[in-house]
Amino acid sequence: MFTFERNERDLKHCIYDPGFNEDSAKYYEGLLTQGNGYMHVRASFEEGLKSVKQDEEYDRKPANVTLEKHKKQASKWGTYIPGVVGAHPYLFTEIVNLPFFMAANFSVKGEELDMEKSNIAGYERYLDLRDATLVRNFVWTTKDGLKLKMEYLRFLSLSQKHLAFSEIKITALSGEGDLYFESGIDARVRTNGFNHFEYLIFSHDDDSVGVRVGTNGKKSVVMRAKLFTSEPIDIATKQDKSRIDYVGVKHLKKGESFVLHKVICATSDCDNEEGDALERNREYLSGIKFSDLEEAFISHKKAWLQKWIDSEILIEGDERAEKALRFSTYHLLRSDNEENENVAICAKGYAGEAYCGRYFWDTEINMLPFFIHTNPKAAKSLLMFRYNTLEGAKRNALAYGYKGARYPWESSVSGEEECACWQYADHEIHVTADIIYAVMHYVKATGDYEFIKNYAIDIMVETARYWCDRVDYKNGEYVLLSVMGPDEYLPMTNNNVYTNNMVRFALKTTLSCIDKLKEEGSWDEIKDRLHVTQEELWEFSKVANGIKVSFDKESHVIMQCDGFEDFADLDFDKLWPDRSKCFGTFISQEKNYRSKALKQADILEMMMLFPKEFSKSQIEENYDYYEPITTHDSSLSAAVHGIMAAKIGRIDEAEAFLQRVIDIDLDPDKKGAEEGIHIANCGGLWQLVVYGFAGMNSALWEDEIKFTPNLPKNWQKVIIPITWHGVKKRYVISQD
Ligand code: BGC
Repeated sequence: MFTFERNERDLKHCIYDPGFNEDSAKYYEGLLTQGNGYMHVRASFEEGLKSVKQDEEYDRKPANVTLEKHKKQASKWGTYIPGVVGAHPYLFTEIVNLPFFMAANFSVKGEELDMEKSNIAGYERYLDLRDATLVRNFVWTTKDGLKLKMEYLRFLSLSQKHLAFSEIKITALSGEGDLYFESGIDARVRTNGFNHFEYLIFSHDDDSVGVRVGTNGKKSVVMRAKLFTSEPIDIATKQDKSRIDYVGVKHLKKGESFVLHKVICATSDCDNEEGDALERNREYLSGIKFSDLEEAFISHKKAWLQKWIDSEILIEGDERAEKALRFSTYHLLRSDNEENENVAICAKGYAGEAYCGRYFWDTEINMLPFFIHTNPKAAKSLLMFRYNTLEGAKRNALAYGYKGARYPWESSVSGEEECACWQYADHEIHVTADIIYAVMHYVKATGDYEFIKNYAIDIMVETARYWCDRVDYKNGEYVLLSVMGPDEYLPMTNNNVYTNNMVRFALKTTLSCIDKLKEEGSWDEIKDRLHVTQEELWEFSKVANGIKVSFDKESHVIMQCDGFEDFADLDFDKLWPDRSKCFGTFISQEKNYRSKALKQADILEMMMLFPKEFSKSQIEENYDYYEPITTHDSSLSAAVHGIMAAKIGRIDEAEAFLQRVIDIDLDPDKKGAEEGIHIANCGGLWQLVVYGFAGMNSALWEDEIKFTPNLPKNWQKVIIPITWHGVKKRYVISQD
């Protein structure tokens, strides 16, 4: 009887769900999300939880995302294809939660298998990070005395990205009886309580059952499934208005086993591939025979193995950190679809709906370094997403009354602003300059200078136009008024130093790239195509050289914006009695917005990104000033602080931040992964190990790779695969 060959259990490589518990089911659904870049499925049980309706409708209104309370429900199904978005009445567009194709239900004499109610023993479930397989085993004893060993394994193929596989093996340990099963595709789902489906067309043929879903984003998705059974039995199809299944009954006697293999194919109109979604779906699925399953699994495993060879970091002496890093690396790898340049990685790593599937600066600043140094093709593809949304960014600038291109704080696939809260949408403009930083980081690290000529120059010119229009000229300087910096707890500040410095970098970079293009003779064509005038270039240069940036080599503590010292001081000990909760929950937004309480790194973020500009003592002074007033309410904060603490040799503090970083998703009490993975923090952990503890230099600022380690005492060795200027190497950093 064929079954997929299981890996040997290995704690180092597996993330365990310790046992079914209503309070943590939703957390493990997020934590153990599977994906292959093309599609992603939360780790919900095949049979669902009978007590939870997945299609309950409710209003999710715009809210401050840090403090928003999400709908309390014990389980949340989530199936996402990046790029498939639909319109929401209050939230612009959001990623659409698609039908759950892993659905499979069992019953014996009318008694349904349900983790909440059934008599279950020996439950174990884990995600094996080596090949991204989700395994669940348990023994179900029915009221009738039939004892069934249930063994599940499922994966989303990394080598055939439209395919997903599910295997369920049932063995009768004692008793005898009829096992009834339904295995199909369940469309009783909603996204953030909203129904994005305009139509559901179910169908079946000799080969498969399926559904075509039309979303209110005017895109359709086709999902089809075929079923193989370990021995021939009568199988029928069953369908209602929102679910289609294969159904059958298998009589089992003690010692007998039965296996169901389901192969699912998903295609969509957003696939960046030629041809109708249904035709392509047929092409990918129809040829699959039972005898192909083994090979499909092997090629999937091989694809994962290659990913791990290119990116897995080993830490001798700290298994906990190594495993957390493996977990983060896994989610980064599965979230990325390097073949589709029309999508990037959303803030929840396609493992939940908290940020509606939106793209933030997180991609460029937190995640991109990982891809730059492990898979430059993927890094390029992420930047191409910004190139492909440049027209949207131009419309966005226009909507605000500016020239050029202004990238949105929250982007969906169009490049237009989708953030529903005005503070961030209107003021958090640094993302537009962060993109230029990321472009140059990629170009310097890979040597792909052609990228500038072929694509990035358009982004540079258009965003430079925006900046020149966005600045005001006051007292002999260009200023950026009413800005939110990375610290989101001060919404409308003047001359946020991080932002102004990033804009200066972006403009100077644009000018120097133009000079290079002039030298190599390609500028004239670009200039004509983009209608760049000499006056404009002077303007770029005037703003680049005249923008207010309030620090220099002699600066001590740098105020993060004009008048920062005038904001109110707070007594954190009094105001913040329970540090396991966000500081923001203990203070009104109004009071927060007039106080010195940072949500996340701001000046320190800048110091991390511009390492050549600041001495160790400047970092120390600023760290000592800002860290005590930083709440780390944003998941992006801890990694940056860890890196900076390591850089100034405060290893104990850096280790404490390491623990915080790990806990963000992996602490089962915090349940951080309920609404999705904090994927920027995953990139942050990689950076904390590589830039912080191993002390790698940034490829943006230096041509030769070098390490200035600050290893924790118990770390004997760190082994890091790094691609630098096209060469893949493995670096070993040890205590000596
Ligand atoms: C952070 C932002 C971040 C966003 C998405 C917010 O809470 O403050 O910096 O971009 O989450 O991760």
